[in-house]
Amino acid sequence: MITRSGVPALLALRDVPDLAQDTVKDWHRAHLNPALITLMELGGYDGVRIVRAEGPWLETSDGRRLLDLVSAYGALSHGHNHPRVLAAARWFDEQRVPDLLKEFPSPWPAALAHNLAQLTPGDLDMVSLCNSGTEAVEGGLKLAMRVFAGARHRFLYAEGSLHGKTLGSLQITGREKYRGHVRRFEDWPMVPFGDAAAIARALDEDARAPGGPTIAGVVLEPVQGEGGVVVPPAGYLKEVEGLCRRHGALLILDEVQTAFGRTGHLFRCEADDVVPDVLCVAKALGGGVATVGATITRPSLHRRAYGTVNECLVHTSTFGGRARACAVSLEALNVAVEEDFPGRARRVGAFLREELEGVVARHPDLLVGVRGTGLMLGLELAPVEVPRLALPIGRGGLQKIVDAYLPGIIGAELLHGHGIVASFMLNHPRVLRVYPPLVATEADLAGVAPALDAVLSKGWPRLLAGRVQGALSQAGLSTVMEWLARW
Ligand SMILES: Cc1ncc(COP(=O)(O)O)c(C=O)c1O
Repeated sequence: MITRSGVPALLALRDVPDLAQDTVKDWHRAHLNPALITLMELGGYDGVRIVRAEGPWLETSDGRRLLDLVSAYGALSHGHNHPRVLAAARWFDEQRVPDLLKEFPSPWPAALAHNLAQLTPGDLDMVSLCNSGTEAVEGGLKLAMRVFAGARHRFLYAEGSLHGKTLGSLQITGREKYRGHVRRFEDWPMVPFGDAAAIARALDEDARAPGGPTIAGVVLEPVQGEGGVVVPPAGYLKEVEGLCRRHGALLILDEVQTAFGRTGHLFRCEADDVVPDVLCVAKALGGGVATVGATITRPSLHRRAYGTVNECLVHTSTFGGRARACAVSLEALNVAVEEDFPGRARRVGAFLREELEGVVARHPDLLVGVRGTGLMLGLELAPVEVPRLALPIGRGGLQKIVDAYLPGIIGAELLHGHGIVASFMLNHPRVLRVYPPLVATEADLAGVAPALDAVLSKGWPRLLAGRVQGALSQAGLSTVMEWLARW
């Protein structure tokens, strides 16, 4: 074990596993994201060292097994270290073919694009390969602007959406916190998710603009992920598809979370019988091993955006479409098809949903319900209303503490008491993410409902007393603590 004081100036690769946990935290603080370590400390994640992972299971340095219900925000549909995907990476390395070489036609991106074109609906046959979800979405925005030669340059998007955190995708992200101080295009219409009439009104208004329409595209997640796992009303996407066709705007579907089986369909748009103009994918496309995203569109649109020799280098990326990532991704896609990820998500999702609905029925004071579809599930916490009490922080103060801490405390209890890793959605902090890898079985997930029962049975006052004791006593609020503990 390399301690804080005994660290060599420049680490060698094989020194890394032996770094002491304190050193790892120190270096995160010094070089990466100091406040993120503070956040991890609040949830009790900072002391946990994961040394191995397989399928839905993580193994800690002290030999505990943890169940992963986060799946890297939906990227790990194949689970950790899927044997076939790892073997593909090893096999590729043995070939000694060039990984990064752009001057010649390469069989690897050609084969991956061919397979994607086979699997995607309609004539979604043109594939632009990149390295992340946000890049895939930005590729869609840029393509649409080019299709209209700049005449249409605005996008319509939904409240609660999350499409990435780079400058372009932030403009269509429906939560101020993530947009932060990034200057917003005020005139890009944001509408409630699931409300087709609002989209119709915005497109109608745009059609009457003096210089002609300016909305190039409507950007939606078919099921909102980070917004709180929101399935829109039946028929919504089909209606939006019709509206886009009527107004000549492109329908850009962000399937970064939903694609490759998670919702019980290979692509969620198939459930609604919709063929978007642009389909953005990433996350599970890399099988948890490669870093791959793709913007997929129709040949006619691709021709309009990038069809000439003069334009063919207008949208490229040094690493996008590199051979190794394409090889790994090709195998990951075949695994998703051959292991029937959509069918698994439907079958195991139905089991897990029933289990979670049982938990909701047993804890109606703390839970509102189960959201989602397939294995893209969320458990919604009820707002806790603090009773009127004669306490030194008053009702409002305690309410703030409950609102701020309770979701995190439930997560920490699941982690430390029951070996379950579950986080809350980025744009909806009262929805607990239940996104197991799609390779998880009913047996792997059988402990989830009993663990939730055990945690929630404590009731919010005791949960709070157990985990925010330090903070409250530092603030001189020991009477609150005593009261909470006696509840
Ligand atoms: C629906 C959706 N789109 C885009 C992104 C951005 O993907 P990435 O983090 O790979 O940039 C995310 C990330 O969670 C997402 O959930």
